[in-house]
Amino acid sequence: MTATQHVSVMTNEVIELIGPTAGGRYIDATAGGGGHSEALLSAISPTGDDVLPSLLSLDADHKAVERVRTRLEPFGDHVVVVHSNFRDLQAVAVAQQFTQVDGIVFDLGFSSDQLHDVERGFSMTASGSLDMRFDTSQSVTAASLINNLDEKDLADVIYEYGEERKSRRIARSIVNHRPIDTAQELADLIARSVGRREKIHPATRTFQALRIAVNRELDSLSEVLPQAVSLLRPGGRLVVISFHSLEDRIVKQFLQTEARDCICPPETLICQCGHKASVRILTRRPLQPSVGEVATNSRSRSAKLRAAEKL
Ligand SMILES: C[S@@+](CC[C@H](N)C(=O)[O-])C[C@H]1O[C@@H](n2cnc3c(N)ncnc32)[C@H](O)[C@@H]1O
Repeated sequence: MTATQHVSVMTNEVIELIGPTAGGRYIDATAGGGGHSEALLSAISPTGDDVLPSLLSLDADHKAVERVRTRLEPFGDHVVVVHSNFRDLQAVAVAQQFTQVDGIVFDLGFSSDQLHDVERGFSMTASGSLDMRFDTSQSVTAASLINNLDEKDLADVIYEYGEERKSRRIARSIVNHRPIDTAQELADLIARSVGRREKIHPATRTFQALRIAVNRELDSLSEVLPQAVSLLRPGGRLVVISFHSLEDRIVKQFLQTEARDCICPPETLICQCGHKASVRILTRRPLQPSVGEVATNSRSRSAKLRAAEKL
């Protein structure tokens, strides 16, 4: 197994907001290359007296889990690395005795290790099969969607998850040229069908849409956010880094709702919902990477970080 190629995004901001301390307990829900996990562990500087591990790291990708286990070996029993989808966070955390934690970080999407692994089909130039699964033990792949969905459903996926205005034309062209086996074949087909008029490759939004659909990324995010808040102790902190507007909207709306006492419609005079605020928002506007970080890691340019503290 090769070392990670992934450069972690906004690590300083993550550490500052989570504020790890010795004796604290933390969860990295998207271990990836292990950079945030390692930074958390280094900042905690666990002592030999700790009875329980300080960090629970999880990832849906088996290869990422193996890589992170190797990277974090120097921290011994202070970290537990688990293969799991974060949509099951509550169950995993309870099983690992990570409840009432001090901080949880999510760094969403895919890693450079996944992008550069040609077998995984995340990159538009990949000659390997159109796969795109974070978890290779699940059955749905990008190829199975591309080659089996009917034209309308395919167009809907591309429109909804890629925010692609030319979704119908792209879906028609895919249906007319199936079966499509490789990422490169799909990228070339889309470029031929819609032309190259923008700075970004014309298949970029379709690739995003397929990845989101294959991994049910938005559903998983919506499902995990309430679990994450319930796992925090009062004063514990949640940090979420997202890379596109669909994810960021889910995080923003969730935090805005959870930060309010009453969520009744505005015309309601007397509260009927009984909702009580569970968090205080720490980032009125999302934080973005510094100019210096974007210059050294262009992948960070679309990152938006939102954070909240459990009440
Ligand atoms: C951007 S990378 C994280 C990088 C990491 N923070 C670091 O510093 O190296 C995102 C990782 O999250 C994982 N991931 C995405 N969605 C997931 C989910 N629903 N459950 C578990 N892991 C997920 C991906 O497999 C990928 O390895």
